[in-house]
Amino acid sequence: MVLTKQKTIQIGLLGAGVVGSGIIKSLLNHPLIKIKKIGVKGLNKKRDWGDSVGNSRDCSLQTTTNLTEIVTDPEIQIIVEALGGLNPARDLVTLAIKNKKHIVTANKDLIATYGPELFDLARENNVQIQFEASVCGGIPIINTLKQTLNANKFSKIMGIMNGTTNYILTEMLSKNLNFNDCLNEAQKLGYAEPDPTSDVSGKDAAYKIAILSSIAFHERIKINEVYTEGIEKITLLDILTAEELGYRLKLIALSKKEDDGKIDVRVHPAFIKQTNPLASVLGVNNGVLVEGDLVGELTLIGRGAGQSPTTSSVIGDLNLLAAQLSYSREPHPQFVCHHTEYAKIKPMKDTVNCYFLRLKTEDKPGVVGQIGTIFGSHDVSINAFTQRGINHDDTASITMLTHKVKEEKIQNAITELKKANSIKQVENLIRVLE
Ligand SMILES: NC(=O)c1ccc[n+]([C@@H]2O[C@H](COP(=O)([O-])OP(=O)(O)OC[C@H]3O[C@@H](n4cnc5c(N)ncnc54)[C@H](OP(=O)(O)O)[C@@H]3O)[C@@H](O)[C@H]2O)c1
Repeated sequence: MVLTKQKTIQIGLLGAGVVGSGIIKSLLNHPLIKIKKIGVKGLNKKRDWGDSVGNSRDCSLQTTTNLTEIVTDPEIQIIVEALGGLNPARDLVTLAIKNKKHIVTANKDLIATYGPELFDLARENNVQIQFEASVCGGIPIINTLKQTLNANKFSKIMGIMNGTTNYILTEMLSKNLNFNDCLNEAQKLGYAEPDPTSDVSGKDAAYKIAILSSIAFHERIKINEVYTEGIEKITLLDILTAEELGYRLKLIALSKKEDDGKIDVRVHPAFIKQTNPLASVLGVNNGVLVEGDLVGELTLIGRGAGQSPTTSSVIGDLNLLAAQLSYSREPHPQFVCHHTEYAKIKPMKDTVNCYFLRLKTEDKPGVVGQIGTIFGSHDVSINAFTQRGINHDDTASITMLTHKVKEEKIQNAITELKKANSIKQVENLIRVLE
């Protein structure tokens, strides 16, 4: 982007790790934006700030461990927060806003958890918070929802919003491997953190769908109200059975505005049709499918993390702010958070889905009838039923697909199944999204 004949904009950068270093490299020759100060934890760490052709970084850059000094510097107009986590990011961003700085952040934990208080404060102080990089790295979904698609009334957002889990599920399918082997491989390749809990438990995707839902449906979402289930219990058999039935197993983040005004927002493994565009999102990639009344269905697929894709979103936000600041200090109305109400969230028990079930049962006459009776008494209607042979311990493996039914009813049926003598184990229950 060429932004000449404008006054230089000075920014303060909090954090110079994976994302921060990418930002520094990209701003080396920026015509308008200059980094005045960089805040880090350790001053003696070796930093690689050379540009892509190997030139090393301009030594005039000030690096400091005093981050308060950065967010209160009167010459700095924009603070880019690339620290991660909730603290000290929350306190520093709060102080920066009180000092009339605009904010660009890549921090989903911060926006999903403290977004409401930060957006209120930003409005009071007439500054703007840009956070494109906080959801799905390089995929331009936030500004697309806010700006390009703003003529639409959205009904659904569905996505694959975590690259680590998508890599694991893709590898399990393509190499016939189990969950732990794929997780170990992902860690070796740097696609999974040493502590992968936030990714595999679905928490990371929950932050992202909470952020996108509040933008699409103009209501705030409390992160602890997002139903979240991870992929820890998924087996190779679940993945292969999905394929056999014409589905693909993915960790899906979903948000739908229901007719009663409630929002059905959740993260869990799901069977999706192989024809769904998200079924072809492979490896560490992310994908977001949006349904709007005018645009119809639209899917964006791309790199959901990594230094370059995340830098792409951060610099995009910075350029947008810089262009605005060149003619006005007022925040752009399309990028200001105007909503203040909290959404009514549909409880998981009231959601309606089809289900896939895997059971281990005794291998004897009457078992199938007993399952049918239990399901029938809870209004669960079976769509497909397969006995998949006899196991070494003489038990039978049974898989089932149900028609659409309320979650509460299938959960009650499962509770009763677990009490039946002939049912040895309910091995997995996976929602099927039609
Ligand atoms: N990595 C990605 O692909 C990606 C993608 C999308 C969004 N994000 C988000 O971007 C943010 C940054 O992620 P990252 O991967 O760049 O993290 P990172 O590599 O761990 O870097 C964090 C940086 O913040 C500094 N820092 C952390 N705590 C600090 C403290 N208390 N005081 C001063 N400096 C502190 C660190 O200083 P030292 O260098 O001195 O340790 C480091 O430079 C996170 O919110 C993350 O969720 C990351």
